Amino acid sequence: MFSKNRLAVSLATALCASQIFAAPLTRDNGALVGDNQNSQTAGANGPVILQDVQLIQKLQRFDRERIPERVVHARGTGAHGVFTPSADISDLTMAKVFKPGAQTPVFVRFSSVVHGNHSPETLRDPRGFATKFYTQDGNWDLVGNNFPTFFIRDAIKFPDMVHAFKPNPKTNLDDNGRTFDFFQHIPEATRTLTELFSDNGTPAGYRFMDGNGVHAYKFVNAKGEVHYVKFHWKSLQGIKNLTPDQVKDVQGKDYSHMTTDLVNSIKQGDYPKWDLYIQVLNPEDLAKFDFDPLDATKIWPNVPEKKIGQMVLNKNVDNFFQETEQVAMAPANVVPGIEPSEDKLLQGRVFSYADTQMYRLGANGMSLPINRPVVAVNNGNQDGAMNMGHTTSEVNYEPSARNPRPQMDQARYSQLPLNGTTQQTKIVKEQNFKQAGELYRSFTKAERQDLINNFGGAVSGADEQAKYKVISFLYKADPEYGTGVAKVAKADLNRVKNMAAQLQD
Ligand code: HEM
Repeated sequence: MFSKNRLAVSLATALCASQIFAAPLTRDNGALVGDNQNSQTAGANGPVILQDVQLIQKLQRFDRERIPERVVHARGTGAHGVFTPSADISDLTMAKVFKPGAQTPVFVRFSSVVHGNHSPETLRDPRGFATKFYTQDGNWDLVGNNFPTFFIRDAIKFPDMVHAFKPNPKTNLDDNGRTFDFFQHIPEATRTLTELFSDNGTPAGYRFMDGNGVHAYKFVNAKGEVHYVKFHWKSLQGIKNLTPDQVKDVQGKDYSHMTTDLVNSIKQGDYPKWDLYIQVLNPEDLAKFDFDPLDATKIWPNVPEKKIGQMVLNKNVDNFFQETEQVAMAPANVVPGIEPSEDKLLQGRVFSYADTQMYRLGANGMSLPINRPVVAVNNGNQDGAMNMGHTTSEVNYEPSARNPRPQMDQARYSQLPLNGTTQQTKIVKEQNFKQAGELYRSFTKAERQDLINNFGGAVSGADEQAKYKVISFLYKADPEYGTGVAKVAKADLNRVKNMAAQLQD
Protein backbone atom coordinates (compact mmCIF):
# COMPACT_ATOMS: atom_id res chain seq x y z
CA MET A 1 0.00 0.00 0.00
CA PHE A 2 1.32 3.45 -0.91
CA SER A 3 1.22 6.11 1.76
CA LYS A 4 -0.22 9.44 0.66
CA ASN A 5 3.23 11.04 0.48
CA ARG A 6 4.83 8.14 -1.37
CA LEU A 7 2.02 8.25 -3.86
CA ALA A 8 2.51 11.99 -4.30
CA VAL A 9 6.24 11.53 -4.91
CA SER A 10 5.70 8.64 -7.34
CA LEU A 11 3.06 10.49 -9.28
CA ALA A 12 5.10 13.65 -9.45
CA THR A 13 8.21 11.71 -10.51
CA ALA A 14 6.28 10.00 -13.28
CA LEU A 15 4.73 13.26 -14.40
CA CYS A 16 7.91 15.30 -14.30
CA ALA A 17 9.46 13.10 -17.00
CA SER A 18 6.93 14.37 -19.52
CA GLN A 19 5.63 17.61 -17.99
CA ILE A 20 7.06 20.45 -15.97
CA PHE A 21 6.02 19.09 -12.53
CA ALA A 22 8.99 18.51 -10.25
CA ALA A 23 9.22 15.64 -7.75
CA PRO A 24 8.87 17.04 -4.23
CA LEU A 25 11.81 17.04 -1.85
CA THR A 26 11.76 14.20 0.69
CA ARG A 27 13.76 12.91 3.65
CA ASP A 28 15.43 9.48 3.47
CA ASN A 29 12.29 7.89 4.89
CA GLY A 30 10.35 9.28 1.94
CA ALA A 31 8.51 11.91 3.96
CA LEU A 32 7.90 15.31 2.36
CA VAL A 33 10.05 18.25 3.48
CA GLY A 34 8.29 21.47 4.45
CA ASP A 35 11.22 23.89 4.57
CA ASN A 36 14.75 23.24 3.31
CA GLN A 37 15.95 26.84 3.68
CA ASN A 38 15.39 27.67 7.36
CA SER A 39 16.22 25.58 10.43
CA GLN A 40 13.54 25.27 13.08
CA THR A 41 14.31 27.63 15.99
CA ALA A 42 12.76 28.33 19.35
CA GLY A 43 11.31 31.71 18.59
CA ALA A 44 12.84 34.43 16.47
CA ASN A 45 16.17 34.56 18.35
CA GLY A 46 16.13 31.20 20.08
CA PRO A 47 18.46 28.23 19.45
CA VAL A 48 17.93 25.57 16.77
CA ILE A 49 15.87 22.70 18.10
CA LEU A 50 16.69 19.00 17.93
CA GLN A 51 13.28 18.03 16.59
CA ASP A 52 14.14 19.49 13.14
CA VAL A 53 14.67 16.02 11.69
CA GLN A 54 15.36 17.37 8.19
CA LEU A 55 18.26 19.50 9.46
CA ILE A 56 19.64 16.69 11.62
CA GLN A 57 19.42 14.05 8.88
CA LYS A 58 20.96 16.32 6.26
CA LEU A 59 23.97 17.05 8.48
CA GLN A 60 24.30 13.41 9.53
CA ARG A 61 24.34 12.20 5.93
CA PHE A 62 26.81 14.91 4.94
CA ASP A 63 29.08 13.98 7.86
CA ARG A 64 29.24 10.42 6.51
CA GLU A 65 29.73 11.09 2.78
CA ARG A 66 33.28 9.79 2.56
CA ILE A 67 34.39 6.19 2.65
CA PRO A 68 38.11 5.44 3.09
CA GLU A 69 39.88 6.34 -0.13
CA ARG A 70 41.86 3.56 -1.77
CA VAL A 71 45.23 3.21 -0.04
CA VAL A 72 46.76 3.42 -3.54
CA HIS A 73 45.17 4.35 -6.88
CA ALA A 74 42.83 6.81 -5.13
CA ARG A 75 42.46 9.14 -8.12
CA GLY A 76 40.49 7.41 -10.87
CA THR A 77 38.00 7.63 -13.70
CA GLY A 78 35.60 4.91 -14.81
CA ALA A 79 33.60 4.04 -17.93
CA HIS A 80 31.39 1.22 -19.16
CA GLY A 81 31.85 -0.75 -22.35
CA VAL A 82 31.84 -4.14 -24.00
CA PHE A 83 34.46 -6.80 -24.79
CA THR A 84 34.17 -8.97 -27.91
CA PRO A 85 36.55 -11.89 -28.52
CA SER A 86 38.14 -12.13 -31.96
CA ALA A 87 39.83 -15.54 -31.89
CA ASP A 88 38.90 -19.04 -30.74
CA ILE A 89 41.27 -19.84 -27.88
CA SER A 90 39.30 -22.76 -26.40
CA ASP A 91 42.50 -24.85 -26.76
CA LEU A 92 43.97 -22.54 -24.07
CA THR A 93 41.09 -21.61 -21.75
CA MET A 94 37.55 -22.63 -21.00
CA ALA A 95 36.63 -19.08 -19.84
CA LYS A 96 33.34 -18.12 -21.52
CA VAL A 97 34.46 -14.50 -21.96
CA PHE A 98 36.67 -15.73 -24.83
CA LYS A 99 34.04 -17.97 -26.51
CA PRO A 100 33.50 -16.77 -30.10
CA GLY A 101 30.20 -14.85 -30.27
CA ALA A 102 30.28 -13.76 -26.61
CA GLN A 103 29.64 -10.09 -25.80
CA THR A 104 30.71 -9.25 -22.27
CA PRO A 105 29.86 -5.97 -20.51
CA VAL A 106 32.90 -4.38 -18.85
CA PHE A 107 33.66 -1.55 -16.46
CA VAL A 108 37.12 0.02 -16.63
CA ARG A 109 38.69 2.17 -13.93
CA PHE A 110 41.79 4.13 -14.91
CA SER A 111 43.82 5.69 -12.13
CA SER A 112 47.07 7.17 -10.95
CA VAL A 113 48.80 5.41 -8.07
CA VAL A 114 50.54 7.38 -5.37
CA HIS A 115 48.68 10.66 -5.13
CA GLY A 116 45.34 11.12 -3.36
CA ASN A 117 41.85 11.60 -4.71
CA HIS A 118 41.58 14.91 -6.63
CA SER A 119 45.36 15.18 -7.08
CA PRO A 120 46.55 16.59 -10.42
CA GLU A 121 46.55 13.95 -13.14
CA THR A 122 49.70 15.51 -14.55
CA LEU A 123 51.81 14.14 -11.66
CA ARG A 124 54.37 11.51 -12.66
CA ASP A 125 53.05 8.05 -11.78
CA PRO A 126 52.29 4.63 -13.24
CA ARG A 127 48.62 4.50 -14.32
CA GLY A 128 46.13 1.83 -13.36
CA PHE A 129 44.11 0.11 -16.07
CA ALA A 130 41.63 -2.17 -14.29
CA THR A 131 38.85 -4.00 -16.12
CA LYS A 132 35.91 -5.83 -14.62
CA PHE A 133 34.40 -8.32 -17.07
CA TYR A 134 30.81 -9.28 -16.10
CA THR A 135 31.09 -12.77 -17.67
CA GLN A 136 28.70 -15.72 -17.78
CA ASP A 137 31.16 -17.54 -15.46
CA GLY A 138 31.07 -14.73 -12.87
CA ASN A 139 33.17 -11.58 -12.66
CA TRP A 140 36.76 -11.59 -13.90
CA ASP A 141 38.91 -8.59 -12.99
CA LEU A 142 42.08 -7.88 -14.94
CA VAL A 143 43.74 -5.32 -12.67
CA GLY A 144 46.68 -3.95 -14.64
CA ASN A 145 48.86 -0.90 -15.23
CA ASN A 146 50.09 1.05 -18.24
CA PHE A 147 53.67 -0.13 -17.59
CA PRO A 148 54.29 -3.79 -18.49
CA THR A 149 56.50 -4.41 -15.43
CA PHE A 150 56.43 -3.61 -11.71
CA PHE A 151 59.03 -2.19 -9.30
CA ILE A 152 59.24 -5.17 -6.95
CA ARG A 153 58.83 -8.91 -7.24
CA ASP A 154 57.59 -9.93 -3.79
CA ALA A 155 54.37 -8.73 -2.11
CA ILE A 156 56.14 -8.49 1.24
CA LYS A 157 57.86 -5.32 -0.03
CA PHE A 158 54.69 -3.57 -1.28
CA PRO A 159 53.73 -1.64 1.90
CA ASP A 160 57.36 -0.42 2.26
CA MET A 161 57.47 0.66 -1.36
CA VAL A 162 54.20 2.56 -1.13
CA HIS A 163 55.31 4.26 2.11
CA ALA A 164 58.53 5.33 0.38
CA PHE A 165 56.61 6.81 -2.57
CA LYS A 166 53.91 8.55 -0.49
CA PRO A 167 54.54 11.92 1.19
CA ASN A 168 56.88 12.18 4.17
CA PRO A 169 54.83 11.14 7.26
CA LYS A 170 56.32 14.01 9.26
CA THR A 171 55.88 16.88 6.81
CA ASN A 172 53.28 15.48 4.37
CA LEU A 173 55.54 16.69 1.55
CA ASP A 174 56.60 14.60 -1.46
CA ASP A 175 60.18 13.60 -0.76
CA ASN A 176 62.43 12.01 -3.42
CA GLY A 177 65.08 11.51 -0.75
CA ARG A 178 62.90 8.95 1.04
CA THR A 179 61.91 7.28 -2.25
CA PHE A 180 65.52 6.73 -3.33
CA ASP A 181 66.57 5.78 0.20
CA PHE A 182 64.30 2.79 -0.38
CA PHE A 183 65.05 2.11 -4.04
CA GLN A 184 68.84 2.01 -3.57
CA HIS A 185 68.14 -1.43 -2.05
CA ILE A 186 65.85 -2.58 -4.89
CA PRO A 187 67.92 -3.09 -8.06
CA GLU A 188 65.08 -5.07 -9.65
CA ALA A 189 63.12 -1.78 -9.89
CA THR A 190 65.53 -0.37 -12.51
CA ARG A 191 63.37 -1.19 -15.55
CA THR A 192 60.14 0.11 -14.03
CA LEU A 193 61.83 3.26 -12.64
CA THR A 194 63.02 3.86 -16.21
CA GLU A 195 59.37 3.70 -17.37
CA LEU A 196 58.35 6.04 -14.55
CA PHE A 197 60.87 8.78 -15.30
CA SER A 198 60.33 8.50 -19.04
CA ASP A 199 57.45 10.35 -20.70
CA ASN A 200 55.37 7.17 -20.17
CA GLY A 201 55.03 8.45 -16.58
CA THR A 202 52.96 11.40 -17.84
CA PRO A 203 50.42 10.12 -20.41
CA ALA A 204 48.46 12.66 -22.47
CA GLY A 205 45.18 10.88 -21.68
CA TYR A 206 43.80 7.52 -20.58
CA ARG A 207 42.74 6.83 -24.16
CA PHE A 208 46.35 7.14 -25.27
CA MET A 209 47.97 4.44 -23.17
CA ASP A 210 48.26 0.67 -23.32
CA GLY A 211 47.34 -1.61 -20.43
CA ASN A 212 49.21 -4.64 -19.13
CA GLY A 213 48.28 -7.47 -16.79
CA VAL A 214 51.99 -7.38 -15.78
CA HIS A 215 52.00 -10.81 -14.11
CA ALA A 216 51.83 -14.17 -15.76
CA TYR A 217 48.40 -15.74 -15.23
CA LYS A 218 47.41 -19.32 -16.03
CA PHE A 219 44.97 -20.34 -18.70
CA VAL A 220 43.35 -23.74 -18.08
CA ASN A 221 41.47 -25.52 -20.87
CA ALA A 222 38.62 -28.05 -20.62
CA LYS A 223 41.15 -30.91 -20.43
CA GLY A 224 42.84 -29.28 -17.42
CA GLU A 225 45.95 -28.33 -19.42
CA VAL A 226 47.79 -25.24 -18.21
CA HIS A 227 49.55 -22.45 -20.13
CA TYR A 228 51.10 -19.28 -18.72
CA VAL A 229 49.81 -16.03 -20.27
CA LYS A 230 50.50 -12.33 -20.12
CA PHE A 231 47.73 -9.88 -21.13
CA HIS A 232 48.26 -6.62 -23.01
CA TRP A 233 45.71 -3.97 -24.02
CA LYS A 234 46.85 -1.98 -27.08
CA SER A 235 45.31 1.44 -27.58
CA LEU A 236 43.77 1.97 -31.02
CA GLN A 237 44.08 5.71 -30.36
CA GLY A 238 47.88 5.31 -30.31
CA ILE A 239 50.29 6.18 -27.48
CA LYS A 240 50.62 9.85 -26.59
CA ASN A 241 52.62 11.20 -23.68
CA LEU A 242 53.35 14.66 -22.35
CA THR A 243 56.90 15.98 -22.44
CA PRO A 244 58.08 17.80 -19.28
CA ASP A 245 57.31 21.19 -20.89
CA GLN A 246 53.83 20.07 -21.94
CA VAL A 247 53.16 18.84 -18.38
CA LYS A 248 53.66 22.37 -17.02
CA ASP A 249 51.44 23.83 -19.69
CA VAL A 250 48.61 21.30 -19.28
CA GLN A 251 48.69 21.41 -15.48
CA GLY A 252 48.25 25.17 -15.59
CA LYS A 253 45.04 24.72 -17.60
CA ASP A 254 43.40 21.50 -16.43
CA TYR A 255 44.68 19.29 -13.63
CA SER A 256 42.11 16.64 -14.66
CA HIS A 257 43.25 16.47 -18.26
CA MET A 258 42.99 12.66 -18.47
CA THR A 259 39.47 12.51 -17.06
CA THR A 260 38.35 15.46 -19.19
CA ASP A 261 39.62 13.77 -22.34
CA LEU A 262 37.97 10.41 -21.60
CA VAL A 263 34.62 11.77 -20.47
CA ASN A 264 34.36 14.18 -23.40
CA SER A 265 35.34 11.68 -26.05
CA ILE A 266 32.71 9.20 -24.82
CA LYS A 267 30.13 11.99 -24.52
CA GLN A 268 30.79 12.94 -28.16
CA GLY A 269 30.40 9.33 -29.35
CA ASP A 270 34.11 8.99 -30.14
CA TYR A 271 34.40 5.68 -28.28
CA PRO A 272 37.92 4.60 -27.35
CA LYS A 273 38.99 1.05 -28.21
CA TRP A 274 41.73 -1.34 -27.14
CA ASP A 275 42.70 -4.69 -28.64
CA LEU A 276 43.54 -7.45 -26.17
CA TYR A 277 46.66 -9.49 -26.90
CA ILE A 278 48.14 -12.49 -25.10
CA GLN A 279 51.61 -14.01 -24.93
CA VAL A 280 51.57 -17.71 -24.14
CA LEU A 281 54.20 -20.03 -22.64
CA ASN A 282 54.12 -23.77 -22.03
CA PRO A 283 55.01 -24.66 -18.43
CA GLU A 284 58.07 -26.61 -19.63
CA ASP A 285 59.40 -23.47 -21.37
CA LEU A 286 59.64 -21.40 -18.18
CA ALA A 287 63.05 -22.81 -17.32
CA LYS A 288 64.51 -22.00 -20.76
CA PHE A 289 64.76 -18.23 -20.14
CA ASP A 290 67.82 -16.46 -18.73
CA PHE A 291 65.42 -14.68 -16.34
CA ASP A 292 62.42 -15.92 -14.37
CA PRO A 293 59.27 -15.47 -16.52
CA LEU A 294 57.15 -15.42 -13.34
CA ASP A 295 59.05 -12.36 -12.06
CA ALA A 296 56.79 -9.28 -12.38
CA THR A 297 59.81 -7.02 -12.98
CA LYS A 298 60.23 -8.62 -16.43
CA ILE A 299 58.57 -8.52 -19.83
CA TRP A 300 58.69 -11.55 -22.13
CA PRO A 301 60.75 -10.31 -25.10
CA ASN A 302 60.45 -12.32 -28.32
CA VAL A 303 57.36 -14.26 -27.20
CA PRO A 304 54.78 -13.67 -29.97
CA GLU A 305 51.65 -11.67 -29.20
CA LYS A 306 48.28 -12.94 -30.37
CA LYS A 307 45.22 -10.73 -30.69
CA ILE A 308 42.21 -12.26 -28.93
CA GLY A 309 39.59 -9.51 -28.70
CA GLN A 310 38.59 -5.88 -28.56
CA MET A 311 37.12 -3.60 -25.91
CA VAL A 312 35.09 -0.46 -26.62
CA LEU A 313 34.21 2.06 -23.91
CA ASN A 314 30.86 3.58 -24.84
CA LYS A 315 29.18 4.94 -21.70
CA ASN A 316 30.19 7.38 -19.02
CA VAL A 317 29.14 6.70 -15.45
CA ASP A 318 25.78 7.97 -14.21
CA ASN A 319 27.18 8.55 -10.74
CA PHE A 320 30.89 8.79 -9.98
CA PHE A 321 30.68 7.63 -6.37
CA GLN A 322 28.31 4.71 -6.92
CA GLU A 323 30.31 3.34 -9.84
CA THR A 324 33.91 4.58 -10.02
CA GLU A 325 34.48 5.03 -6.30
CA GLN A 326 32.65 1.92 -5.13
CA VAL A 327 33.93 -0.47 -7.77
CA ALA A 328 36.04 -3.22 -6.22
CA MET A 329 38.56 -4.63 -8.70
CA ALA A 330 40.49 -7.60 -7.32
CA PRO A 331 42.94 -10.13 -8.75
CA ALA A 332 41.05 -12.70 -6.60
CA ASN A 333 38.08 -12.28 -8.96
CA VAL A 334 39.01 -15.02 -11.41
CA VAL A 335 36.75 -17.48 -13.22
CA PRO A 336 37.19 -21.11 -14.30
CA GLY A 337 39.83 -21.17 -17.04
CA ILE A 338 41.87 -18.26 -15.59
CA GLU A 339 44.05 -18.68 -12.49
CA PRO A 340 46.85 -16.80 -10.76
CA SER A 341 50.37 -18.01 -11.54
CA GLU A 342 52.96 -18.65 -8.84
CA ASP A 343 54.31 -15.08 -9.26
CA LYS A 344 55.06 -14.01 -5.64
CA LEU A 345 53.77 -10.49 -6.18
CA LEU A 346 50.48 -11.68 -7.68
CA GLN A 347 49.95 -14.17 -4.86
CA GLY A 348 50.03 -11.27 -2.37
CA ARG A 349 47.64 -9.23 -4.51
CA VAL A 350 45.14 -12.09 -4.60
CA PHE A 351 44.76 -11.59 -0.83
CA SER A 352 45.30 -7.84 -0.45
CA TYR A 353 42.59 -6.35 -2.71
CA ALA A 354 39.68 -8.44 -1.46
CA ASP A 355 40.88 -7.70 2.08
CA THR A 356 41.14 -3.91 1.65
CA GLN A 357 37.76 -3.86 -0.07
CA MET A 358 36.12 -5.57 2.91
CA TYR A 359 37.50 -2.67 4.95
CA ARG A 360 36.78 0.08 2.38
CA LEU A 361 33.29 -1.07 1.34
CA GLY A 362 32.37 -3.66 3.94
CA ALA A 363 31.69 -7.38 3.82
CA ASN A 364 28.78 -6.90 1.40
CA GLY A 365 30.61 -4.63 -1.05
CA MET A 366 30.44 -7.33 -3.71
CA SER A 367 26.64 -7.01 -3.84
CA LEU A 368 26.68 -3.31 -4.76
CA PRO A 369 25.23 -2.85 -8.27
CA ILE A 370 28.65 -2.02 -9.81
CA ASN A 371 30.26 -5.11 -8.27
CA ARG A 372 27.62 -7.81 -8.41
CA PRO A 373 27.96 -10.48 -11.08
CA VAL A 374 25.39 -10.96 -13.85
CA VAL A 375 25.07 -14.62 -12.81
CA ALA A 376 23.37 -15.70 -9.59
CA VAL A 377 25.41 -15.94 -6.38
CA ASN A 378 24.46 -19.09 -4.49
CA ASN A 379 26.28 -19.89 -1.26
CA GLY A 380 25.97 -19.76 2.51
CA ASN A 381 27.87 -16.50 3.04
CA GLN A 382 25.55 -14.25 5.00
CA ASP A 383 24.80 -11.23 7.17
CA GLY A 384 27.38 -8.49 7.73
CA ALA A 385 26.91 -4.72 7.67
CA MET A 386 24.73 -3.22 4.93
CA ASN A 387 23.35 -6.48 3.62
CA MET A 388 21.10 -5.55 0.69
CA GLY A 389 20.04 -9.08 -0.22
CA HIS A 390 16.65 -10.73 -0.08
CA THR A 391 17.58 -14.26 1.02
CA THR A 392 14.68 -16.65 1.56
CA SER A 393 16.46 -20.03 1.83
CA GLU A 394 16.68 -21.79 5.21
CA VAL A 395 19.81 -23.62 4.05
CA ASN A 396 22.92 -21.54 4.75
CA TYR A 397 25.29 -24.51 4.90
CA GLU A 398 26.66 -27.09 2.48
CA PRO A 399 26.29 -30.07 1.93
CA SER A 400 22.54 -30.36 2.25
CA ALA A 401 19.93 -32.75 0.89
CA ARG A 402 17.22 -30.08 1.26
CA ASN A 403 18.99 -27.59 -0.98
CA PRO A 404 21.95 -29.22 -2.73
CA ARG A 405 24.47 -26.80 -4.18
CA PRO A 406 26.65 -29.05 -6.32
CA GLN A 407 30.35 -28.29 -6.84
CA MET A 408 31.31 -28.49 -10.48
CA ASP A 409 34.31 -30.59 -11.53
CA GLN A 410 35.22 -28.24 -14.38
CA ALA A 411 35.75 -25.45 -11.84
CA ARG A 412 38.39 -27.35 -9.79
CA TYR A 413 41.71 -25.53 -9.54
CA SER A 414 44.50 -26.86 -11.75
CA GLN A 415 47.23 -28.89 -10.07
CA LEU A 416 50.84 -27.81 -9.74
CA PRO A 417 53.63 -30.36 -9.20
CA LEU A 418 55.87 -29.30 -6.27
CA ASN A 419 59.10 -30.36 -4.61
CA GLY A 420 61.64 -28.94 -2.14
CA THR A 421 61.14 -27.30 1.25
CA THR A 422 59.45 -24.14 2.44
CA GLN A 423 61.89 -21.26 2.08
CA GLN A 424 62.43 -17.51 2.17
CA THR A 425 64.93 -16.73 -0.58
CA LYS A 426 65.40 -14.48 -3.57
CA ILE A 427 64.60 -15.89 -7.00
CA VAL A 428 67.60 -17.48 -8.69
CA LYS A 429 67.70 -15.61 -12.02
CA GLU A 430 67.42 -11.98 -10.89
CA GLN A 431 68.75 -10.28 -14.05
CA ASN A 432 68.04 -6.83 -12.65
CA PHE A 433 69.41 -4.53 -15.36
CA LYS A 434 69.28 -6.06 -18.85
CA GLN A 435 65.67 -5.16 -19.70
CA ALA A 436 66.14 -1.65 -18.30
CA GLY A 437 68.95 -1.10 -20.80
CA GLU A 438 66.83 -2.50 -23.63
CA LEU A 439 63.98 -0.15 -22.69
CA TYR A 440 66.35 2.84 -22.62
CA ARG A 441 67.70 1.97 -26.07
CA SER A 442 64.15 1.60 -27.45
CA PHE A 443 63.50 5.32 -26.81
CA THR A 444 64.14 8.04 -29.39
CA LYS A 445 66.93 10.54 -28.75
CA ALA A 446 64.45 13.14 -27.49
CA GLU A 447 62.72 10.61 -25.21
CA ARG A 448 66.10 9.56 -23.77
CA GLN A 449 66.91 13.17 -23.00
CA ASP A 450 63.56 13.70 -21.23
CA LEU A 451 64.18 10.53 -19.19
CA ILE A 452 67.71 11.62 -18.28
CA ASN A 453 66.56 15.08 -17.24
CA ASN A 454 63.58 13.76 -15.24
CA PHE A 455 65.58 11.05 -13.47
CA GLY A 456 68.62 13.25 -12.92
CA GLY A 457 66.49 16.02 -11.42
CA ALA A 458 64.70 13.62 -9.08
CA VAL A 459 67.77 11.68 -7.90
CA SER A 460 69.83 14.81 -7.33
CA GLY A 461 67.81 15.37 -4.14
CA ALA A 462 68.66 11.93 -2.73
CA ASP A 463 71.18 11.21 0.05
CA GLU A 464 74.74 10.83 -1.27
CA GLN A 465 74.84 7.02 -0.91
CA ALA A 466 71.38 6.50 -2.40
CA LYS A 467 72.15 8.81 -5.30
CA TYR A 468 75.31 6.91 -6.29
CA LYS A 469 73.72 3.50 -5.78
CA VAL A 470 70.72 4.30 -7.98
CA ILE A 471 72.80 5.93 -10.74
CA SER A 472 75.11 2.90 -10.71
CA PHE A 473 72.03 0.75 -11.48
CA LEU A 474 71.29 2.98 -14.48
CA TYR A 475 74.92 2.84 -15.65
CA LYS A 476 74.83 -0.95 -15.39
CA ALA A 477 71.65 -0.96 -17.52
CA ASP A 478 73.25 1.25 -20.16
CA PRO A 479 76.45 3.33 -19.81
CA GLU A 480 75.02 6.23 -21.86
CA TYR A 481 71.94 6.32 -19.60
CA GLY A 482 73.99 6.28 -16.38
CA THR A 483 76.41 8.86 -17.72
CA GLY A 484 73.58 11.22 -18.70
CA VAL A 485 71.83 10.97 -15.35
CA ALA A 486 75.16 11.36 -13.47
CA LYS A 487 75.78 14.59 -15.36
CA VAL A 488 72.34 16.05 -14.57
CA ALA A 489 72.60 14.97 -10.91
CA LYS A 490 76.19 16.30 -10.69
CA ALA A 491 77.60 12.92 -9.63
CA ASP A 492 81.24 11.81 -10.07
CA LEU A 493 81.15 9.45 -13.08
CA ASN A 494 84.22 7.44 -12.03
CA ARG A 495 82.61 6.62 -8.71
CA VAL A 496 79.42 5.58 -10.55
CA LYS A 497 81.43 3.34 -12.91
CA ASN A 498 83.27 1.65 -10.02
CA MET A 499 80.01 0.94 -8.22
CA ALA A 500 78.35 -0.36 -11.40
CA ALA A 501 81.28 -2.73 -11.94
CA GLN A 502 80.49 -4.40 -8.58
CA LEU A 503 76.91 -5.22 -9.64
CA GLN A 504 75.87 -8.69 -10.81
CA ASP A 505 74.23 -8.79 -14.26
C1 HEM B 1 51.88 -7.02 -3.96
C2 HEM B 1 51.70 -6.02 -4.79
C3 HEM B 1 50.48 -5.15 -4.70
C4 HEM B 1 49.61 -4.93 -3.68
C5 HEM B 1 49.66 -5.52 -2.28
C6 HEM B 1 48.60 -4.01 -4.15
C7 HEM B 1 47.56 -3.51 -3.39
C8 HEM B 1 46.57 -2.68 -3.84
C9 HEM B 1 45.49 -2.19 -3.04
C10 HEM B 1 45.30 -2.50 -1.57
C11 HEM B 1 44.69 -1.45 -3.84
C12 HEM B 1 43.42 -0.73 -3.46
C13 HEM B 1 42.24 -1.57 -3.90
C14 HEM B 1 40.91 -1.00 -3.50
O1 HEM B 1 40.82 -0.29 -2.50
O2 HEM B 1 39.94 -1.29 -4.23
C15 HEM B 1 45.27 -1.47 -5.15
C16 HEM B 1 44.73 -0.87 -6.25
C17 HEM B 1 45.20 -1.08 -7.52
N1 HEM B 1 46.33 -1.78 -7.90
FE1 HEM B 1 47.59 -2.69 -6.70
N2 HEM B 1 48.86 -3.69 -5.46
C18 HEM B 1 49.99 -4.38 -5.84
C19 HEM B 1 50.59 -4.39 -7.07
C20 HEM B 1 49.96 -3.95 -8.21
C21 HEM B 1 50.38 -4.26 -9.54
C22 HEM B 1 51.58 -5.14 -9.92
C23 HEM B 1 49.49 -3.67 -10.37
C24 HEM B 1 49.44 -3.74 -11.86
C25 HEM B 1 49.57 -4.87 -12.50
C26 HEM B 1 48.50 -3.00 -9.56
C27 HEM B 1 47.41 -2.32 -10.04
C28 HEM B 1 46.43 -1.75 -9.26
C29 HEM B 1 45.31 -1.01 -9.80
C30 HEM B 1 45.02 -0.75 -11.27
C31 HEM B 1 44.53 -0.60 -8.70
C32 HEM B 1 43.27 0.25 -8.76
C33 HEM B 1 42.06 -0.62 -8.99
C34 HEM B 1 40.84 0.24 -9.16
O3 HEM B 1 40.83 1.05 -10.11
O4 HEM B 1 39.91 0.15 -8.35
N3 HEM B 1 48.82 -3.18 -8.26
N4 HEM B 1 46.44 -2.21 -5.13
